[in-house]
Amino acid sequence: MAKATTLNPLYNRSAHLFRNCEEGPRELDKKERDTIALLESEIQALEDGGASLKRSLFRGFSVSSPLGVASGPAYGSKFLGLYTRLGYGFVTQKTVRDRIWEGNPVPNVLYLKGGDFESGFVTSDAPTLMMTNSFGMTSIDPGEWERDLASFSRTHEEPLIISGVATKAATRSENIEQYVKLGVVSERIGANAYEINVSCPNEMEGHSGELQDDLGFLSEVLLELKDTLTIPILIKIGHREDLSRLALSVGKILDGIGGFVAINTKPAVVRKDDGSYAYGEGRPRAGINMKPLAPFAKDALRQLVRIRKQSGYDFRIFNVGGILTPEDVAERLEMGADAVESAGAAMTDPYLGLETKKYLLEKASGR
Ligand SMILES: Cc1cc2nc3c(=O)[nH]c(=O)nc-3n(C[C@H](O)[C@H](O)[C@H](O)COP(=O)(O)O)c2cc1C
Repeated sequence: MAKATTLNPLYNRSAHLFRNCEEGPRELDKKERDTIALLESEIQALEDGGASLKRSLFRGFSVSSPLGVASGPAYGSKFLGLYTRLGYGFVTQKTVRDRIWEGNPVPNVLYLKGGDFESGFVTSDAPTLMMTNSFGMTSIDPGEWERDLASFSRTHEEPLIISGVATKAATRSENIEQYVKLGVVSERIGANAYEINVSCPNEMEGHSGELQDDLGFLSEVLLELKDTLTIPILIKIGHREDLSRLALSVGKILDGIGGFVAINTKPAVVRKDDGSYAYGEGRPRAGINMKPLAPFAKDALRQLVRIRKQSGYDFRIFNVGGILTPEDVAERLEMGADAVESAGAAMTDPYLGLETKKYLLEKASGR
């Protein structure tokens, strides 16, 4: 039977992201350190017995576990570094901009106790398996994140993906330039892949969430990146009932050199018990993730696998959304994902990465 998810958040929800980035994740307590040490020794024993999860997703992008951290839980080397120790095979830097950006006020992360996408969700004070976030893509000063991530990539073997977003500019070409500039910086500081975020439902200027549906814009950005970068290019997308036009036009450009990260959070109204908007009057809706997102993430995966097969384009599929347990990871891999990512559970459950590695190694060694 699947183990219940541990609920003990690593991110300080009552502080701004700038402070979290500076202070890093909370200290692990003795029980957690002991559990982690036990999992590490069990994993070592399985690897000593010949089991391995090592696989190459792209040239220069080999992972020791197919489960990575999605863009979100890790802003800066302190968080990224912790996740590499917690068993994740690769890590993604939460979306950065080419300028400092304060984003939305705290709270930015809330847990939910019930609801649905039609009628809205209701918040819970205690951690649950349902989450919402609303940062507005906060970004620390580019000089600082560049220094910090360059030093992370020099000192860690695990592949680093940097996620970037453009800040709404006066012209289309300026927006394209920003996406390309962030890719160039990512490659220069040692990232193993660059991810363009075109699907954030929380972003304040209200444009990037719609860019996913502007196929002309996407083609221009991706073709320019393809001409400029040597590292793989990923595109982070949200769920749509029909992804075929997007997947065919983007898949053709990224054939052999990149792939999709699917899916981003899905927006809904978020209220407190008293009916008021949980993020304040100006922010009724926010992105929902974890458990309620799972059916949408699986649907996007099914669509992308089918389109890849039919088209013959060789793009990678990183599936994210509603991963709560090692069994969820195994299921998505069996459905055709090349890699799987977690945001909400990675933030909430310190054991998910190592437990997944152990579970998949046991499966690989026929136990
Ligand atoms: C706290 C938090 C912050 C996030 N920030 C970003 C972000 O900056 N860029 C992005 O592309 N996705 C972001 N996401 C979305 C996740 O990458 C992921 O697509 C989504 O949460 C679904 O995964 P999950 O169900 O495992 O949480 C964020 C998610 C969470 C929970």
